[in-house]
Amino acid sequence: MATRSALINVMVRAADRAARGLRRDFGEVEQLQVSLKGPGNFVSAADHRAEKVLRQELHHGRPDYGFLMEESGASPGHDAQHRWIVDPLDGTTNFLHGLPHFCISIGLERAGEIVAGVVFDPIKDELFWAEKGVGAYLNDRRLRVSSRRQLSQALIATGTPYDREAGRQHYLRQLDAMMDAVADVRSMGAAALDLAYVAAGRFDGYWEYGLSPWDFAAGMLLVREAGGYVSDPGSGGDPLPSGNVLAANDHLHASLRNMLLQAG
Ligand code: IPD
Ligand code: CA
Ligand code: CA
Repeated sequence: MATRSALINVMVRAADRAARGLRRDFGEVEQLQVSLKGPGNFVSAADHRAEKVLRQELHHGRPDYGFLMEESGASPGHDAQHRWIVDPLDGTTNFLHGLPHFCISIGLERAGEIVAGVVFDPIKDELFWAEKGVGAYLNDRRLRVSSRRQLSQALIATGTPYDREAGRQHYLRQLDAMMDAVADVRSMGAAALDLAYVAAGRFDGYWEYGLSPWDFAAGMLLVREAGGYVSDPGSGGDPLPSGNVLAANDHLHASLRNMLLQAG
C-alpha cells in the first residue's frame, strides 16, 4: 500500500472536490445532447466551476504557490519556486458529447521541474498520481510502463493537431508510417489520460504536437515515475517548451522517435 505524502493529499483532495461537480454536470450534459440549444455553454461553465474549486482547494493547501491554469492563465504566488499547472477538464470534447472519458490534471512545478502530478478520471474513479522519486500509482497500485519490445505489437495513442493548417501534412505522414509499423493507433481525446495509460502499461506509447503545459505536466511525471521516457520527438529534449510530446516505454521510445523523424 502506497503512503501518500501531505503534498499528494492536498492535490487529491482538490481533484476529488472538483470531480464531484464534474460528475454532476456530466449527468446534465447527457440530457442536454438531445436539446436544441446543445450543451456548449453549459460545458464551458462546468469547466470554469471546476477550475474555481481547484484553485480554492490548492490555495487552501499551499497558500503561497502560484498557478498556471487553462482558463484563468498565470498568477504568480509569494513562493516563486512553486507553481500549480492545472487543467480542470481535459477531454472537453468528449465531455461535451457525453463520452465518459475525461479527467482533471494537476501538476506541481518546483524551480522549473515537475515534481508531483495527479490525473483523476472521475467517471472510472481512477486516480493516477506520481511524486518525483516516489513512483507512479493508480489508486494504491504501483505503476510500471509496458515491457513490450516489438513495435509491431505496440498500441500507440495520439491526438490530432488542433492547428489544422501548419503541421497537418507532417502529422499525416507520421500517422501513415505509424499505422504501418504498430499493432494499432488510438485517439481518445484526453492527453492527460493518454499519458496516464502509458504509465499504466495500457498504451505502449503516445505522441502529439502542440500541447499546452496543463495537458501533459502531470502525465509526463506519471510516465517517468513508471519507468518510461518522455521527450520532444524533434529535439529529443524537454517537451515543456514546445508542447510536442513523445512518451513510451524504455524499449520503444528510440525506435518510435526514429520512425517519426524519418516519416516527418
Ligand atoms: C485537449 C485534449 C486532447 C488533445 C488536445 C487538448 P482539452 O485538451 O487533451 O486530447 O488532443 O490537444 O487541447 O481542450 O480537452 O482540455
Ligand atoms: Ca487539456
Ligand atoms: Ca481543458
